[in-house]
Amino acid sequence: MSTFLQVNLEDVLKILGEGEANRLLSTFKCPLNNDVETFIRKKAIAFTRQALSRTYLIFDGSSLVGFFALANKFIHIDTAGLSNKLCSRISRFARSSSQQNTLSLAAPLIAQIGKNFAVTDNPLKGDDLLSMSCNKVAEAQFILGGKLVYLECDGNPKLQTFYERNGFAVFSRCRADEDRHKSKPLIGMLKYLS
Ligand SMILES: CC(C)(COP(=O)(O)OP(=O)(O)OC[C@H]1O[C@@H](n2cnc3c(N)ncnc32)[C@H](O)[C@@H]1OP(=O)(O)O)[C@@H](O)C(=O)NCCC(=O)NCCS
Repeated sequence: MSTFLQVNLEDVLKILGEGEANRLLSTFKCPLNNDVETFIRKKAIAFTRQALSRTYLIFDGSSLVGFFALANKFIHIDTAGLSNKLCSRISRFARSSSQQNTLSLAAPLIAQIGKNFAVTDNPLKGDDLLSMSCNKVAEAQFILGGKLVYLECDGNPKLQTFYERNGFAVFSRCRADEDRHKSKPLIGMLKYLS
């Protein structure tokens, strides 16, 4: 992997100020996913200011090549489709719910992740970007405890394959986060960070 620089948006705001940071983020293009583009262009700064999520910008030299955003949420995991080994690992950190086959726990969410398609021949690979986000979660869990990370994606088979190839397993095929005001169903996927 080439050497990329990861910078917390909070630090970018301190160094550049909001106007310049906004200008930088407004160069980000993600035609494959409107939510991702809208988040980085219009919401990431406000979410950072409110500490609702933490956004990490990935640079190749001075070029913004990608980003990911992390948050902490409470989830309900339907264990029906998961392996016994994974269920038993998760249950160490979770509470069994009154509903059968459901474990509930607070877990870090990879809330957004995307490459900047405005960069020609972007050297950042999706696998490496996802690995950076999981490593950042592992750093937080080194301090706080925990081993699980999860994300939500729409049902696009290519995206699902991308996450499965990187060790994520489907745990829910409906809305995993009740805060969402979206009507499209999301797939919840999780990974145990060993
Ligand atoms: C997801 C992402 C980081 C993966 O990086 P990558 O370097 O493209 O990864 P891969 O090369 O393994 O390719 C993943 C495949 O999924 C496709 N894909 C990625 N995001 C997609 C999306 N939102 N909708 C449809 N297809 C998508 C890619 O086009 C690629 O297809 P291909 O194999 O036919 O070229 C990157 O494609 C991206 O930034 N996508 C847009 C943002 C996004 O959807 N983020 C995920 C939100 S859950």
